[in-house]
Amino acid sequence: MNILITGGAGFIGANFVYYMQKKHPDYRLVVVDALTYAGNLKTLDGARKSSDFRFVKADIADPAAMDALFAQEKFDIVVNFAAEIHVDRSIEDPGVFLRTNILGTQTLMDAARKHKVRRYHQVSTDEVYGDLPLDRPDLFFTEETPIHTSSPYSASKAGADLLALAYYRTFKLPVTISRCSNNYGPYHFPEKLIPLMISRALNNEKLPVYGKGENVRDWLYVEDHCAAIDLIILNGRVGEVYNIGGHNERSNLDVVKTVLRALGKNDSLITFVTDRPGHDMRYAIDPAKITAELGWKPTTKFDDGIQKTIAWYLDNRAWWESILSGEYQNYYEKMYANR
Ligand code: NAD
Ligand code: TYD
Repeated sequence: MNILITGGAGFIGANFVYYMQKKHPDYRLVVVDALTYAGNLKTLDGARKSSDFRFVKADIADPAAMDALFAQEKFDIVVNFAAEIHVDRSIEDPGVFLRTNILGTQTLMDAARKHKVRRYHQVSTDEVYGDLPLDRPDLFFTEETPIHTSSPYSASKAGADLLALAYYRTFKLPVTISRCSNNYGPYHFPEKLIPLMISRALNNEKLPVYGKGENVRDWLYVEDHCAAIDLIILNGRVGEVYNIGGHNERSNLDVVKTVLRALGKNDSLITFVTDRPGHDMRYAIDPAKITAELGWKPTTKFDDGIQKTIAWYLDNRAWWESILSGEYQNYYEKMYANR
């Protein structure tokens, strides 16, 4: 089996590479990543030791590069993680989100059609469903919940999902889509809530909580997301959407306080700042479909996963400190300059 993993130098893609290397040691894995600000080749150091692993620096929205790579590698499966993902950045500059998330998806799917891959999997997000009110804890996102986006990020992901379903219907491209809730775990870029709070608290810096901190996210340990995608690409039905989430809802303030307690720091580091425009109130996934059809269940509870994650950030200070200093961006040049 030869699998293309796009965005594999990012948070979830890299965790997926390590998950697949362990679970399916006989598979060949090829990562394509443009190494934007969010991609870190150093994250893949462990994976690159395998002879069944290849890294290609390329843009998924570059048709010639994708066509040449697909012709050479003859992939069986494509898993598309590559994306611009940070909501706050999408509010500052939507254009790159549309280019990578929509046109990049189109480019990849065109290559997948032409070179007849057996499965194209689109990694999507629960944010395409918009948000739920805080006073209706009985409501959850199902696969039938209407698409209703709030941010340029979620709108671009929804656009990609619709295009993927259109390619299934019109061209019979064997597509599956997964929509997962917020992930956390190792290699999470330190601009996102949990790693931002861990790294800032360790440096005794103020922790910026948007609004009142009452917004709720449904947190899933990244390995559980990887396990779900593995099941979908091997056993999921084409043309289907699968929601992924583990009923681990927490308010942002709860999450920040949990991080502070685990690090032995005082709540006085918390500072309430102006809210994000269009800020989604609550995300909550109903994972009944993937559980019933594919037997997926999350294995890591939030209280355990957050402790594992904090321990990882304490043990891997060099990884996130090189990101905060910007030094990680030179790593590709250093590793590949003479090849
Ligand atoms: P990330 O920002 O950590 O990683 C994205 C990777 O894509 C980076 O390595 C980046 O260099 C690469 N990339 C960006 N533009 C590219 C391009 N044009 N060509 C090639 N590579 C490019 O993001 P992540 O958190 O790992 O998210 C991966 C996927 O999972 C995304 O599609 C996202 O929408 C989805 N998702 C994320 C979460 C979450 O909580 N992080 C939850 C649900 C779904
Ligand atoms: P984030 O990690 O950006 O993920 P998403 O917006 O995709 O859910 O943010 C998670 C929650 O944390 C979201 O409600 C916004 C909030 N947040 C803060 O309060 N402060 C911060 O500095 C950041 C980055 C996020």
